[in-house]
This record gives sequence, structure tokens and C-alpha cells, in this order.
Amino acid sequence: MTGEDFMRLALAEAEKGRGRTHPNPTVGAVVVRGGRVISRGHHEKAGLPHAEVNALRAAGRSARGADLYVTLEPCNHSGRTPPCTEALIAAGVRRVFFGSADPNPLVDGHGARRLRRAGVEVHAGILRAQCDASNEPWFKFITTGLPWVVLKAAITLDGKLSARTGDSKWISSEPSRRLVHHWRNELDAVLVGAGTVRADNPRLTVRGIRGGRNPLRVVLGAIPAGALLTRQPGETLAEGGPLRQVLRRLARRGITTVLVEGGATVHGAFLRARLWDELRLFVAPKIFGADAMSWAGFMGRPLELRLRALERVGSDALLWVRPVRT
Ligand SMILES: NC(=O)c1ccc[n+]([C@@H]2O[C@H](COP(=O)([O-])OP(=O)(O)OC[C@H]3O[C@@H](n4cnc5c(N)ncnc54)[C@H](OP(=O)(O)O)[C@@H]3O)[C@@H](O)[C@H]2O)c1
Repeated sequence: MTGEDFMRLALAEAEKGRGRTHPNPTVGAVVVRGGRVISRGHHEKAGLPHAEVNALRAAGRSARGADLYVTLEPCNHSGRTPPCTEALIAAGVRRVFFGSADPNPLVDGHGARRLRRAGVEVHAGILRAQCDASNEPWFKFITTGLPWVVLKAAITLDGKLSARTGDSKWISSEPSRRLVHHWRNELDAVLVGAGTVRADNPRLTVRGIRGGRNPLRVVLGAIPAGALLTRQPGETLAEGGPLRQVLRRLARRGITTVLVEGGATVHGAFLRARLWDELRLFVAPKIFGADAMSWAGFMGRPLELRLRALERVGSDALLWVRPVRT
């Protein structure tokens, strides 16, 4: 196996913590000795040990003289847990290979420098693009103080979000709706406008996933009395004011990712303000006609977007779209 193969295993390890580590990144590590993986570890939750420490603990004394592959540069500062650099030095690791450099100003190159000073051989940038992609939302969060914003909508072929009757529940197919529960399970918060709460009375919970956990539920505007979402396990928050400030407040609570589930007014506001990072759009083979509600509403001027991927989910097309940054 090559160094890149070991880093791929570390990336797979990192995935085990996805959606559970905020406000921290997802990180995975493997300890390698004699060309063989002897232990693995990932960051499970903020406040618990980092990936490197979990992998070192699992390796025990065998870590002495071994190599460690980790998806993100090891930290050299004390947060809720002691610095990983010290754990690596104490364990007697000979070489450290990491993927992404840590943009966190508290880490930024210090981790690698501290290790080198202690005589550990350090190699940066192994599978860097993949490691960077695995923490793209967190990189935005840590460098801008804003969460990563994912807009999600289900529309018809003629771009409608709900029928004349105001009923939007059945636009997308069952597999698409199941997929949305996985996204809720992975993102830190889910956000809708008060209009959607009034029209659909959604629960915004994670259902049908073993070990799933509910994201923080955020409603823009006043929550109507008796709304179902206030009676679900987990926290519900009513927010208001300019979107950027709402996002900043969420980031201050440690929210690194937000799934914006609509409706038309709220999506339009995020699109116009360019406060979004990703759009996941289900297009169902249906036509609702001119008297149905349009998605995204008034734009002011045409928005140029970039289609990143396209897949079929059930009977729908799922479009993965990104903004064009100018
Ligand atoms: N197909 C889908 O994927 C999907 C998903 C969700 C919803 N929908 C449909 O969309 C429709 C609801 O859309 P909608 O446009 O009427 O309502 P909406 O976008 O859900 O909510 C709009 C409301 O949010 C509140 N708000 C507070 N701060 C805001 C801000 N900064 N920017 C924008 N809004 C803010 C305002 O409520 P106040 O006026 O109370 O202050 C505003 O009227 C329903 O028919 C629903 O079924 C479809």
C-alpha cells in the first residue's frame, strides 16, 4: 500500500464522525507500521480526544517508531483537549503525514513546526485536495465566522415549489425524501421560513436512520402557536433580522453547517444576498402550471450558477449546484 492508500483509509475514518464534531472539523487518522495499518481513530465529538489521540491509544506501545497519517494538520494548542503534537511526540511516532494544512489561526503551521523541532519527520499535503474537500464547510466556518449554507428544494419541471392549493408535500419521490433525512442527520442546523411552518407544519426531525440525531431547528420569523416542530426532541429557535446576522449568531453557537429547506421567500433571500454555498435541487417530472408558487421568487437580475453533478434519485433528478464566485 502507498502513502495515498493510507491517507484514503484516514479519510474513511474521518467520515465516521461526520455531522457530530461541530464546532470542530471531521478528522481521521491511521497508525502504520511495517507497511501495515495497526490502528485507526477519528474525532467523535467536540470535547472528546482528537483523531490522532484515539489512533495512538488504540496502537499503544506499538506507536513507537511508527508512522501516523492524519487528514488535518495536528493541533499544537490546548483547547478542550491537550495538543495532539505533544501526544505524538510522547508516543514516539517517527513520521507524520497530513493532508490539509489547518487554516485555524491557532494551528496554522505551528503543529508541523513543533513536531519537526522534536525530531519527528513531517510530510504535508498527502491527498490534499480530497482532505480539503472533506472539511470544506468547516474551512469556511473557521475563516469567515459564518456557517456553510446548503439550500435544498424540490421543484417541478416548470420550477414550481407548491401547487395552487399550497400543498408541496408530494413533489419529490420517496427516495429523495429519505435522502433529505440523511442530510438533516449530517448538518448541524435546519432552517425554514415562518411561511413554510404555517403552510406545512413540518417536524424537521431525522426519521428512519438508526443512531440519527436531530439538528438544531431554526425558524425565520415568528413560530405559530402549536407548531409541531416545537414539540419534537431537540431545540427549536426563532430567528429574525438580516440573514448575515442570523448566520453569525448561529456560528457563534458553534453551528458550522445549515440546511435551508425553504420556502420560496427564504430561498430567494439567500440567493439574492449570495449567502449560500451549495444548492441541492430535486427536479420532479411534474408540471403544476402558471398558477402554482414559483421557486426562489424575485431575483432582480439573472444568477449564473455552476452545475457540479447530476444524479437520478427515485423518479427525480438531483442537481448539485454551486455559486459562481466573482
Ligand atoms: N417544495 C419544497 O421543497 C418546499 C420546501 C419548503 C416550503 N415549500 C412551500 O413553500 C411555501 C412557503 O414559502 P413562503 O415563501 O410562503 O414562506 P417561507 O419562505 O417559508 O417563509 C417566509 C417568511 O419567513 C419570515 N422571515 C423572517 N426573516 C426573514 C428573512 N430575513 N428573509 C426572508 N424571510 C424571513 C417572514 O415571516 P413573517 O412574515 O411571519 O415575518 C416571511 O414571510 C409553502 O407553500 C410550502 O409548502 C416547498
